[in-house]
Amino acid sequence: MQIAAPLLENPMVARLSQYPHHRGKTRLDHVKEVAELSFYWGNRLSLDYTAIVRGALLHDLFFYDWLHEGPRLHGFRHHTIALRNARKVTPLSKKEEDIIKKHMWPLTPIPPRYPESLIVCLVDTYCSIRDYLNIKGELTHGTKISVKNKISRRIHGR
Ligand SMILES: [Fe+2]
Ligand SMILES: [Fe+2]
Repeated sequence: MQIAAPLLENPMVARLSQYPHHRGKTRLDHVKEVAELSFYWGNRLSLDYTAIVRGALLHDLFFYDWLHEGPRLHGFRHHTIALRNARKVTPLSKKEEDIIKKHMWPLTPIPPRYPESLIVCLVDTYCSIRDYLNIKGELTHGTKISVKNKISRRIHGR
């Protein structure tokens, strides 16, 4: 949260809450989910989680409803638009730029250069597929928490 807070307070990033992204989720919901889960894996794998959180929060920084408007071939182009917008929000490290630029790989041909970029790319794909399949699972300790909650509800009859 310490890493994310300054970006979440930025008006351009906050504007993402006005755009639908995947099935009932806003784009802000999506980037926060990707940042949180990428942080978890980045931390576990001892990677640069500051770059991961910042890159993930900015990876879909574009301002149109991609299902109904925006450029043709959105899937192949929005990473460039997001990168251009992200540069207006904050100075970016090379790693953060790579995270944003390569997050659509392998749809875009050049592979991620850093493990941090690969993590965000994989988590973004996972979150997107999960949203469309409506899977409720988590790849983090969240699983344990939700199982624990279910057991507790069974025991207490709630
Ligand atoms: Fe994207
Ligand atoms: Fe995304």
